[in-house]
Amino acid sequence: MTPGPVTGALLEALRADLAPFTVAAVEEVLGPVASAALHREQRVPALRAADPADPVGALVRAFVLGVEVPRRALDAALPRVGADGAERLGLVVAAGADHHDAVRAHVDLRPYSAHDAAGAVDWWIASDPGELATGDALRTDHVLGVGGASTTLAQVTVRDPRGRTLDLGTGCGIQALHAARHSDAVVATDVSHRALGFAAFNASLAGARLDVRHGSMLDPVRDDEPFDLVVSNPPFVITPRRGMPTYEYRDGGRAGDHLVRDLVVDVGAVLAPGGVAQLLGNWEHRRGQDWRERVGEWVDASGLDAWVVQREVQDPAEYAETWLRDGGTTAERDPAGWAAAYDAWLDDFAARDVEAVGFGLVLLRRPSSGAPTLRRLEERTGAVRQPLGAHIARALAAHDLLEGLDDDALAGLRLTVAPDVTEERHLVPGSVDPTVVLLRQGDGFGRAVQAGTALAGLVGACDGELAVGQIVGGVAVLFDVPVAELRAELLPQVRDLVRDGFLLPA
Ligand SMILES: C[S@@+](CC[C@H](N)C(=O)[O-])C[C@H]1O[C@@H](n2cnc3c(N)ncnc32)[C@H](O)[C@@H]1O
Repeated sequence: MTPGPVTGALLEALRADLAPFTVAAVEEVLGPVASAALHREQRVPALRAADPADPVGALVRAFVLGVEVPRRALDAALPRVGADGAERLGLVVAAGADHHDAVRAHVDLRPYSAHDAAGAVDWWIASDPGELATGDALRTDHVLGVGGASTTLAQVTVRDPRGRTLDLGTGCGIQALHAARHSDAVVATDVSHRALGFAAFNASLAGARLDVRHGSMLDPVRDDEPFDLVVSNPPFVITPRRGMPTYEYRDGGRAGDHLVRDLVVDVGAVLAPGGVAQLLGNWEHRRGQDWRERVGEWVDASGLDAWVVQREVQDPAEYAETWLRDGGTTAERDPAGWAAAYDAWLDDFAARDVEAVGFGLVLLRRPSSGAPTLRRLEERTGAVRQPLGAHIARALAAHDLLEGLDDDALAGLRLTVAPDVTEERHLVPGSVDPTVVLLRQGDGFGRAVQAGTALAGLVGACDGELAVGQIVGGVAVLFDVPVAELRAELLPQVRDLVRDGFLLPA
């Protein structure tokens, strides 16, 4: 039995019982060593740390570590709902009615805390127990909890107030829950009925209203009013079509990277003018073709503004290992199965001349009017400062501002240096003049731009008092160069710095 929506007195009782089960309380019960070990998928230290006689300890043992607890421990940890109520909700299975009888969790249930544009959130998220709890490979209809990709997408999502939002492939509902904080209405879709049950349960606990719909890709919303925001952490994992279990949570059933391609190409059909779609995805790097060309073709077919950031690249072997382990297949547990699946993965990649796989963020936007103006495909594999959502929103606004400015208008702008920007000067020991000057962004994508002396001088003078054109004039006098030449050199660089958030309109 999968949990579903909860209402009324039972919901109130469950919320009250779970109130002490917070991220901070779990960390306190586990301590830093067991917490760190859990992050490495090792539960022995946590089993030693979590005392079943302590209410939070019992909840950690049952719902995070997946071990049996005596009925009386769960009754004490959930005093209003009790083990009976938890069983009726589909959260646990009890071996019997005696207080010594063992109760085993049927779900993973853990506190989740985050900070988004609307402030702090503290929720509980239920999903299927992972490999750490079951000690086995995942079931193919496994419903994921909140993972690294989930938080990446949640943090890059632009959290402007929205009318209608779609979370495609909602899983446990985490993107939809965040979206509900800044959207009037949220539709959450999935091909998995079980996932929708978890999403509805989690939404009840969080007090969020979701319109939960079953169906594949855009089918459940094709005839809807358009959306102002679409978020999707889709099942983007490139998986051989044969010789492999197909995990619903990561494999959309299409060859290669076609699921991501189809989503990029088609999502515009459900976007309102000005509406934004933010997706995660994998894409293949085919021999002899730059990834930007391949993903660029999808973007062009979409007819939308597009900004694609490649964050990671793996070679085919690394990729196969990552996803084999993710499904719970290990060389130790099943050497023959591991080798066969590994082979199937490499065969699949070889059949399409795939040399590597990129992972990244895709932002698409339906222009409010006219043709697309934004087409940016870039690689940023270094550290970024999450949450990036507000930075991305500012970058979109800067792009739109710059689109409306010719060079004369740009020269008339008064700019200031963003507070996170620092200047680095690299000097050969003993020399006075720097060989390299870097402008470095501490926030956002953490970009670094190499600046010539004139550009560094211009940026240094951007304090909001003088217009860009006036500063260029002053720098031209200082360096004794023709103003027109210097302006032609510097204005495109100023455009880039405004677009990327180094310089802000005063
Ligand atoms: C990687 S999980 C993402 C879950 C959640 N949104 C998150 O961010 O953690 C992908 C979800 O897509 C669902 N899914 C798989 N194939 C789908 C399809 N064709 N259409 C819609 N959803 C699909 C899976 O059941 C799964 O819940």
